[in-house]
Amino acid sequence: MASVVLKSLCKTFNKVNAVNNINLEIRDKEFMVLVGPSGCGKTTALRMIAGLEESTSGEIWIGDRVVNDVSPADRDIAMVFQNYALYPHMSVYENMSFGLRLKKVPTGSNVPLLNQKRAFTNEQIDRRVQEAAEMLGLRPLLQRKPKELSGGQRQRVALGRAIVREPKVFLMDEPLSNLDAKLRVQTRAELIKLHRRLGITTVYVTHDQVEAMTMGDRIAVMSNGIIQQCDTPLNLYHHPANLFVAGFIGSPAMNFLTVNVTSIGSDVIIDGGSFKVTLPPSRAEAARSHVGKTCLFGIRPEDIYDSTLPGLIAATDTNTIAVDVDVVEPLGSDVVMYLKAGDTNFIGIIDSASTAKTGDSIRVILDLEKSHLFDKETEQAIY
Ligand SMILES: Nc1ncnc2c1ncn2[C@@H]1O[C@H](COP(=O)(O)OP(=O)(O)O)[C@@H](O)[C@H]1O
Ligand SMILES: [Mg+2]
Repeated sequence: MASVVLKSLCKTFNKVNAVNNINLEIRDKEFMVLVGPSGCGKTTALRMIAGLEESTSGEIWIGDRVVNDVSPADRDIAMVFQNYALYPHMSVYENMSFGLRLKKVPTGSNVPLLNQKRAFTNEQIDRRVQEAAEMLGLRPLLQRKPKELSGGQRQRVALGRAIVREPKVFLMDEPLSNLDAKLRVQTRAELIKLHRRLGITTVYVTHDQVEAMTMGDRIAVMSNGIIQQCDTPLNLYHHPANLFVAGFIGSPAMNFLTVNVTSIGSDVIIDGGSFKVTLPPSRAEAARSHVGKTCLFGIRPEDIYDSTLPGLIAATDTNTIAVDVDVVEPLGSDVVMYLKAGDTNFIGIIDSASTAKTGDSIRVILDLEKSHLFDKETEQAIY
């Protein structure tokens, strides 16, 4: 078993900082997700851990050694790619066993390749392949060729090939992207079960925040080659450190409203021009430093309530605002409401018991305990 530690890791391609000074500690047995939009440097970071890409500067630790100069084959990692990369002319069994058959006992570099001893006997290889096939439900398919398999089955073969190597670390780059939506959700759950069972440290790359939220023990949110925040899914959701993380985590995305922060006596007021709310004491304390400034007020769609419905949060003058309902989209147990306060547009996810229709003027409650405030210049969270 092993931890993976990245210290001041950088990668520059022709002056582009693909990975810009990343520091990250992935604990032994942890399932760490790297998530961020396309082009933010996820694949580059993963390929550096794998040894497929040389780092420009910084250190990569796997377990108790620095592996910057260790070849990919000797890093004790196994990588699973989005496109599976199976050999088309080999059976499932051969695809899964190929890497093990090639593996040699480490010897001095002066020994010719042909004279090097194989690391595993046929019996050992067979045991590992059969075990992995059993785990992944591939037993009946071992003699098939990749073209005779569905996308989901091919993905499992790719996983099986990684598992038989019994690596210290799994590296996975968008392994579910080529599957259709339903299979993706199923395979997601299978991967989590597999991780629980094998307990192998995993670094999992995805651009999909839902995948990240459902799979990660912790999530490192990346943009522009930088880790914006690394924390548990719930901490990222409840305490985003900045505007980027707040907007990236959660669907539909958090509403951001441009507001002035003002005060009357000890009250701190969020003034959006066409609406005003008074912050509860727990929030007012942090926001007080920004009185007199223009800020971005964040409220998630799921923290907005129709004031006419019974609920946990009582409507008061200080947490309720008047809005017009633009559009209502049914979602099942909830509806998505496109709301408007003056010129300010935002989205609410409202209990479908609400009778509000397009064109109605209603009052909504904002759960201010769950609101957020961001500095407009630095984009850092104020609370
Ligand atoms: N081999 C390469 N040569 C030049 N630029 C590259 C190369 N690989 C990646 N990049 C650039 O590095 C940045 C990060 O890419 P990548 O790590 O693939 O992002 P992600 O996996 O998050 O989509 C992008 O701007 C991309 O164009
Ligand atoms: Mg990528």
